[in-house]
Amino acid sequence: MAGKGNNIRKIAISTGGGDAPGLNAVIRAAVVSALHEGWECVGIRDGYNGLLEPDRYPEGGLVRLVRSSVRGITHLGGTILGTTNRGDPRAYPVQAADGSWSEVDRSTELVQAFADHGIDALIAIGGDGSLAIANTLAEKGLKVVGVPKTIDNDLEETQVTFGFDTAVTFATECIDRLHTTAEAHDRLMVIEVMGRYAGWIALHSGLAGSADAILIPEIPYDLESVAQVIRRREAAGRHFSIIVVAEGAHPAGGAPSVIGNDIGQAERLGGIGHRVAAELQTMTGKETRTVVLGHLLRGGSPTTRDRILSLRFGAAAVRAIREGCLGCMVSLDPPEVLYVPLALVTKRIKTVPLDSDTVRTVRDLGVSLGD
Ligand code: F6P
Repeated sequence: MAGKGNNIRKIAISTGGGDAPGLNAVIRAAVVSALHEGWECVGIRDGYNGLLEPDRYPEGGLVRLVRSSVRGITHLGGTILGTTNRGDPRAYPVQAADGSWSEVDRSTELVQAFADHGIDALIAIGGDGSLAIANTLAEKGLKVVGVPKTIDNDLEETQVTFGFDTAVTFATECIDRLHTTAEAHDRLMVIEVMGRYAGWIALHSGLAGSADAILIPEIPYDLESVAQVIRRREAAGRHFSIIVVAEGAHPAGGAPSVIGNDIGQAERLGGIGHRVAAELQTMTGKETRTVVLGHLLRGGSPTTRDRILSLRFGAAAVRAIREGCLGCMVSLDPPEVLYVPLALVTKRIKTVPLDSDTVRTVRDLGVSLGD
């Protein structure tokens, strides 16, 4: 974190990686606060594609953001700027004439593009991938402030990311709905939720939604222990069970279930819900159904909590630039929003601590964690 952030006249905002409810609220707060400072604001389309591939955009890869551009968007999901998880400038996918793909480092060219457009500082809103890119740009001399986004809540150095509360709230509502149909049909219902290699969404929605078993990547599972819970419930006259499975969960000694590994993209997880359901059906003899909540968790309006967090983060990012706190990320450390060095954030992902009070509560309530 270095340098004084004054002498700013123009800032850019980018949204990168998977979308999360609250992106538009961050953009609105950042733009309104920046305009108060007297700064000009532009948005970069689709991560950094607006700067790296301007020809793709007939109306220009940069969008001028004025007061009217951000009116009435706090409650809207998605992002008015667009996003991509295929646009890492450090490993940018390029297609050769023969159709094959390779990756080239375009990060130096990107830093130059900011200068060419007279952009003095960048607010980069994203998850671990986008913030690692932001850190590289900061190391190459760009004035950058990051904002932690992801429904997965797997970012270090912030108590929570925006988007998580909305995803958990919706997942819990879905589990509530699935309870009644599971009970009506005496079925097992397996619900797969996103979260990558962290179990935050599964743990929180499973606890709030009274699941009977919650499988998270941090605790490799043995399905026999889940089957025992189901059999015990059966013997007690409870003929249905709810099992919440994080997409990154895996059996003890086994690997996560992967459905894709495209060039320029992170490994795509998926399929574990169906696997768990098929095995539990065989082990218990009970009729089983699977629901994969997937991208539904990323859509819709942000909750009140996420709106407020997003607005606070957007305003704080502008404050950080004004105060010259650069190469940092805004972070929730209740009750404050602080700035932490970007380099610290991207070292590793934040997984569920096994000695946390939430995990203890799950165990105290007799909910199986599959171990
Ligand atoms: O990082 C958010 C996330 O929603 C993960 O939970 C999930 O694995 C991933 O994005 C899927 O992203 P996409 O389908 O956009 O590649």
